[in-house]
Amino acid sequence: MNAYSFKISKWSPYPLRVILILFVATFGLYICYVSMNEITLERNARDFLVSLKETENVCSVSGIQPEEMRYIHFPQPATYSRSECSCSPVRFFAIISMQRSGSGWFETLLNSHPNISSNGEIFAVRERRANVSSILNTLDTVYNLDWLSSAAKNECTAAFGLKWMLNQGLMDHHAEIISYLNMKGVSLVFLFRRNLLRRLISVLANDYDRQEKQLNGTHKSHVHSKEEAEILARFKPRINIASLISDISSAEKAIADCLQHFSSTRHIILYYEDIVNNHNALSHVQEFLGVLIAKLVSRQVKIHTRPLSKQVMNWEDVTKTLNGTRYEHFLNHADCDF
Ligand SMILES: *[C@@H]1O[C@H](CO)[C@@H](O)[C@H](O)[C@H]1NC(C)=O
Ligand SMILES: *[C@@H]1O[C@H](CO)[C@@H](O)[C@H](O)[C@H]1NC(C)=O
Ligand SMILES: *[C@@H]1O[C@H](CO)[C@@H](O)[C@H](O)[C@H]1NC(C)=O
Ligand SMILES: *[C@@H]1O[C@H](CO)[C@@H](O)[C@H](O)[C@H]1NC(C)=O
Repeated sequence: MNAYSFKISKWSPYPLRVILILFVATFGLYICYVSMNEITLERNARDFLVSLKETENVCSVSGIQPEEMRYIHFPQPATYSRSECSCSPVRFFAIISMQRSGSGWFETLLNSHPNISSNGEIFAVRERRANVSSILNTLDTVYNLDWLSSAAKNECTAAFGLKWMLNQGLMDHHAEIISYLNMKGVSLVFLFRRNLLRRLISVLANDYDRQEKQLNGTHKSHVHSKEEAEILARFKPRINIASLISDISSAEKAIADCLQHFSSTRHIILYYEDIVNNHNALSHVQEFLGVLIAKLVSRQVKIHTRPLSKQVMNWEDVTKTLNGTRYEHFLNHADCDF
C-alpha cells in the first residue's frame, strides 16, 4: 500500500477527492485559458504584420486596440504619394442610406472635416454596379485612395469613403459585398430617416422638381439658400392613399433587411432626426471614423420646414389613413430645422 491509498483509507476519502478533482479542473481551465490567449495574441500579431506589409515603410501605430487593427490601413495610391502622411492610418468607410434621408447634407458635414473625404454616390452610375465584379473593382480603386473626386482631400486624409444607396446594387449583391467589406476592413455608417412619411413627401417633391426644374430650369435635390428652398417647398404633392401604407412599410422593410444582412460588419447606426436634434451624434461618427473631433458645417438649407399638414394637398386623407395604424406617430413627429 502506498502513501496515497493509506491516506485515503485513514481519513475520509471524500474531501480529498473533491479537492483533487477541483485542483485538476482548475489546472485544466488555466491551461485552456493560457493557450486561448496565445491563439488570440498570435492572430493579432498576424493581422498587424499583414497591415504593415501593405506599405514598404514600416509604420508603427499606437493607441489602437488590437481588435481595431483590421480596420486601419496604410494605402499606397497608384496616382500620387501620401508622402509625409504615408504612415498615418486611414479608415475606409461607406455611408449606407436611402434617397431623401439627409445623406447629402450629412456627407457635406463630413467633408467639412479636414481629414475626411467622402466621394459621393459613386454607384449612381449604372455601369459601376452592372455586376459584382464591376462593383468590387470600383471599390478597390476607391479604397486604394485612387478615386479622384471634388471631395478628394490630400495625402493626410484619415477616413476615405463613399455614399451608397440601398437600391444601387447594394442589396442585390449583399452577400458578396459584405464579404468584401469585411475582408477589406471597411466601417459602415448607416443613415436612415425615422419619419418615413416625411421621407415619402420629400421623394415626391424631388420627383416633381426633376420634371419641372423649378429653379431657373435646373433640377436641384439640395439647395444652398432660403430663396431656393422656398421655391421648392411651394409644391405640395398629393399622396396616393391607396399605396400609402405599403409604400411606408416597404421602406421600413428595406431598412430592416439591410441592418439584418450587414450586422456582421463594423458599423454605427444613425438617424437623420438624431443628427438634427443632437450634435453629439456627429461626435460619435467622428470617433467611429478615428478622426479628431471637429465642428462640422454644411451650407445646405433644409427645403421642407413647414408643418407636415401644410406640405401635402390631401392631408386629411393622409391623417385618416394613418390614424390607428402603427405609423400614426409620423403625423405629429417633428424633425426640426437646422
Ligand atoms: C489631418 O490633416 C492635417 C492637414 O492636412 C494633417 O496635418 C494631420 O496630420 C491630419 N490628421 C490625421 C489624424 O491624419
Ligand atoms: C460587368 O459589367 C461591366 C460594365 O458594364 C462589363 O464591362 C463586364 O463585361 C461585366 N462583367 C461580367 C462578368 O459580366
Ligand atoms: C433665376 O435667374 C434670375 C436671372 O438670372 C436670377 O435673378 C434669380 O435669382 C434666379 N433664381 C434662382 C432661384 O436661381
Ligand atoms: C383617430 O381616430 C380616433 C378614433 O377612431 C378618433 O377619435 C380621432 O379623432 C382620430 N384622429 C384624427 C386626427 O383623425
